[in-house]
Amino acid sequence: MKNVLITGGAGFIGANFVRYLLRAEPEVHIINLDALTYAGSLENLRDLPDPSRHTFVHGDICDADLVNRLMREHEIDTIVHFAAESHVDRSILGPAPFIKTNVIGTFTLLEAARQAWGQERDGVRFHHVSTDEVYGSLAPDDPPFQESTAYDPRSPYSASKAASDHLVRAYFHTYGLPVTITNCSNNYGPYQFPEKLIPLMILNALQGRPLPVYGDGKQVRDWLYVEDHCEAIHLVLRKGQVGETYNIGGGNQPYNIDVVRKICALLAELRPGVDYASLITHVPDRPGHDRRYAMDTTKIRSELGWQPRHDLESGLRATVRWYLSHLDWVAKVAQGEEFQKWLQQNYADRQSLAGRRRA
Ligand code: NAD
Ligand code: DAU
Repeated sequence: MKNVLITGGAGFIGANFVRYLLRAEPEVHIINLDALTYAGSLENLRDLPDPSRHTFVHGDICDADLVNRLMREHEIDTIVHFAAESHVDRSILGPAPFIKTNVIGTFTLLEAARQAWGQERDGVRFHHVSTDEVYGSLAPDDPPFQESTAYDPRSPYSASKAASDHLVRAYFHTYGLPVTITNCSNNYGPYQFPEKLIPLMILNALQGRPLPVYGDGKQVRDWLYVEDHCEAIHLVLRKGQVGETYNIGGGNQPYNIDVVRKICALLAELRPGVDYASLITHVPDRPGHDRRYAMDTTKIRSELGWQPRHDLESGLRATVRWYLSHLDWVAKVAQGEEFQKWLQQNYADRQSLAGRRRA
């Protein structure tokens, strides 16, 4: 691993991974290709451990000429592909960019890798970062998702990620492209854009705004601290078997409502004086809302020796502390017109319906 193309490295997990890799691989040079959509920001890439080994390129993964040029000029031997439209609620209100970036974008990168690497099999790798959502939704007593679980995506987001996973596997079987795939559960931690559950709840609570819990709040997610995800991806790059898929997850099963209550309790401890829990508001549910995810991570634990270093308690505490000490970052990434419009679009009707129900 010498010259690594990271796509989406100005987003939440990508920016954490850029930091992680610069520390873990002292010889590596990173080319970071990111379109800087609403979800990406150069603010996420301030104070990198060794900025001289990081080159940022502002561009679109669907731009084949650009991707081909980067592969050639930087002699890329490893691609770690994070770039995606990633928010399920946005995919419900407007699926088109999900199909473009997640499907066409992945296809464009695969073609560029195939052309650049030709028959080269040694020392090159295409790693695709995917999600547990491709497996669908579990009933309360169903066993957790395994790597062999049949795909059953249910939102435009998860369907587009499933399509990209299938393409990546097809390039392995058809062209022998050396690929690996990781399917991970819900991440949280520093630099997560505040449209997602955990940062949204922290920031709404600090502003005294309602904490919008979809439906009964008894949906179950498996939460993983982002640094643990970065470590798992690095391990798969180093020791993973080409052509294989690895599930990654935190091994916890809280109801959403309990995650929100934990955040309120942490804030009450760290910023006392407000009854944060009284802000919890049940609002109309997400259409097609997956009820439960759970990951069986036996394969990555037993084959590669990975395990998460953070449990939900310590990870949530670190996350709440991070947001409290980075309100300047929040102001820069979240004050824009686009995000304010999104909040209006996704929550205004829900809040007024919730208000009417309460009245
Ligand atoms: P994010 O939305 O925070 O960041 C996505 C990044 O991709 C942004 O910087 C954005 O500017 C960039 N991007 C979007 N379209 C692009 C394009 N056409 N060309 C170049 N760059 C583009 O996403 P995230 O939460 O960091 O997720 C990263 C990856 O991990 C995604 O593939 C996602 O499906 C996957 N994943 C996320 C989670 C999670 O909980 N967040 C869990 C499992 C897997
Ligand atoms: O499971 C992995 C996936 O996790 C990733 O592939 C996605 O990119 C990532 O966005 C995330 O998807 P979710 O839909 O699970 O995450 P989100 O933070 O949007 O929601 C988490 C849960 O909280 C979900 O059950 C919906 C609920 N929720 C979310 C929001 C934004 C609420 O109750 N209220 C909210 O306002």
